Amino acid sequence: MQKREQLYAGKAKSVYLTDDPDHLILHYRNDTSAFDGEKIEQLARKGEVNNRFSAFIMQKLEQAGVPTHHEGLLSAQESLVKKLDMFPVECVVRNIAAGSLCKRLGVEEGIDLEPPVFEFFLKNDALHDPMINEYHIRTFGWADDEAVAKMKELTFKVNDTLTRLFADAGLLLVDYKLEFGRFRGEILLGDEFTPDGCRLWDAETREKLDKDRFRQGLGGVVEAYEEVARRLGVDLS
Ligand code: ADP
Ligand code: TMP
Ligand code: ASP
Repeated sequence: MQKREQLYAGKAKSVYLTDDPDHLILHYRNDTSAFDGEKIEQLARKGEVNNRFSAFIMQKLEQAGVPTHHEGLLSAQESLVKKLDMFPVECVVRNIAAGSLCKRLGVEEGIDLEPPVFEFFLKNDALHDPMINEYHIRTFGWADDEAVAKMKELTFKVNDTLTRLFADAGLLLVDYKLEFGRFRGEILLGDEFTPDGCRLWDAETREKLDKDRFRQGLGGVVEAYEEVARRLGVDLS
């Protein structure tokens, strides 16, 4: 498949059209951003680690029955994906309290959330990705009710699959963000699943091994992502 012009440059990935209107190329850059793009740095190897990490997770999810956009790795920093009509919403599941939930509700970081919490956010950096609910989604037409139900169902299915996968690697899946889109009528998981968009703690020590290391200036960001990848058996070569 031939790479064509750039369609969009996001904060961490560049999106290219191909000569096939149904496919895009995602280029994972080393750019690392936090606080809606306020803090940005280039971290060596991050693009490559995240590209391979997301490909590995998407394959695991496909095997578990979650349909995804992933077609295959093209190079160290590029993957081929189906071109989706993205919903402008982010689906978050939280198994353990952390991040904005703690700030918003005054909850102590680290407490187990049973049952897990589901939240929708609007994908809009200028508005700082505000939390929304199903009424906003319906009223403003960001997705129809059937799509909302499907996104919730698939996001919880991802939780069942990945909490187990990470637990087997000695990791706690604290929370994560997913984005979905439509392809020929079907709702598929899009974007990425990497330590940039989830929280992962060591199950024994609760050491943070995700983008909170960058947000909180803890250092060793990509080294932590590589440690997670190594434990999962992701091929980084
Ligand atoms: P952001 O837009 O949040 O800065 P990225 O830098 O990761 O994020 O940019 C990737 C962009 O590509 C995002 O806007 C994401 O919604 C979009 N995207 C991801 N996968 C697909 C896909 N399969 N089809 C269309 N758009 C996609
Ligand atoms: P939060 O605690 O900041 O709301 O984030 C919850 C989880 O979702 C966390 O793993 C980070 C991820 N996330 C993103 O990756 N991008 C986003 O824009 C948002 C709102 C959350
Ligand atoms: N994904 C957002 C950003 O890159 C928010 C965050 O991760 O803190 O700015």
